[in-house]
Amino acid sequence: MEGVRLAALLAVLLQAAAGRSQLPQIDPLIYDEQLLWVGGGAGEVNTYRIPLLTFTSHGSLLAFAEARKHSSGDVGAKFIAVRRSEDKGATWSPTSFVVDDGSLVDGLNLGSVVVDEQKGSVMLIYSLCFHLYQCSPSSTMLVESLDDGQTWSPPRNLSVQLGVKSFAPGPGFGLQKRYPPAKGRLVVCGHGTIEGDGVFCILSDDHGQTWRNGAALKSIPYNQPKKSLDFNPDECQPVELQDGSIVINVRNQNNYHCRCRMVVRSLDGGETLPVEELVFDYTLVDPVVAAGALQKDGVLYFSNPANSHQRINMTLRWSLTDGRSWVNEALQIWQGPSGYSSMTALVGNSVEDKKYVFVIYEKGHKSSVETISVAKIHLYGGR
Ligand SMILES: *[C@@H]1O[C@H](CO)[C@@H](O)[C@H](O)[C@H]1NC(C)=O
Ligand SMILES: *[C@@H]1O[C@H](CO)[C@@H](O)[C@H](O)[C@H]1NC(C)=O
Repeated sequence: MEGVRLAALLAVLLQAAAGRSQLPQIDPLIYDEQLLWVGGGAGEVNTYRIPLLTFTSHGSLLAFAEARKHSSGDVGAKFIAVRRSEDKGATWSPTSFVVDDGSLVDGLNLGSVVVDEQKGSVMLIYSLCFHLYQCSPSSTMLVESLDDGQTWSPPRNLSVQLGVKSFAPGPGFGLQKRYPPAKGRLVVCGHGTIEGDGVFCILSDDHGQTWRNGAALKSIPYNQPKKSLDFNPDECQPVELQDGSIVINVRNQNNYHCRCRMVVRSLDGGETLPVEELVFDYTLVDPVVAAGALQKDGVLYFSNPANSHQRINMTLRWSLTDGRSWVNEALQIWQGPSGYSSMTALVGNSVEDKKYVFVIYEKGHKSSVETISVAKIHLYGGR
């Protein structure tokens, strides 16, 4: 009897140590799903792509996407579209446009959204002329909202501080360090041009006023044409673990070593990405795409089209060991065509906020991904 009680106590202590006290076993279920954008329709937008999702300090959700004006291609003129939800994803505001790049030949590309919880601001960082197609140089731009995403500042050119190297943030979210080292720092990671590719992070220690270049994990051969199977880290999603390290989940552009995700860790708040901290996660099979990652209450979540060759089968995985292993069960969110995805969770202390994660993703019904959908996932819904 005493032994049983001791074992139960030990279990509770272990769970608390892992930061998951009082939470039942994860068994996720799609609670609600809504289409936010459908392309090819009326109006000024041909295609919506590259969805981003974030919480805000005020408890809202903000969804963003590139609204590609004339074609579905990455190059070309675009708006940045936003929709807001003030009721935990139940209803969403009509679309409004945060930025309009006019009629640029090589227009804007999203992007990374980062919330400064200390200041209560939301920043959106994107690139202009990323592909250097009939334009030069490439610029890294920032817009900021101080009113929960309702109004936005004019664009600010961060290349004045960072230099004009092509930098495509995200796509996904940047983070504000919640744990030491460098608590309060903003860390936004992205990738370089096709040749000068690799993962690069930019850092701000003053709430987004000034930015500097931080960690880099460069491709090999760097700044030279790539071949199939070369080492080519590309689009990425950083998340902070509860030990203060930052793990970056990276698109493996040329299928180096595996058809799976690369994961690299920074132990110094985004200053460096040592090669010793690079691993290939064979469980996270990937068709070369931008994926979502999130740390919530000590659990690491991952979303991607879980297939080695095709962008189909949008799947949510979770890890109780900071990504060293993944729970066998996975939640299939959508079996059909699925592309880029991004995740968030509300950070309130209410029981309700602890129960859900949100996944925004490119969702297709025929052969391409023609819509952007947001799924609200009840983490303990299955039991
Ligand atoms: C941004 O600043 C850089 C460096 O000063 C400059 O070369 C570039 O033209 C600027 N971009 C825009 C869009 O103003
Ligand atoms: C979808 O993902 C699940 C979980 O990883 C996997 O078991 C299954 O084989 C995948 N199906 C396809 C068609 O890719």
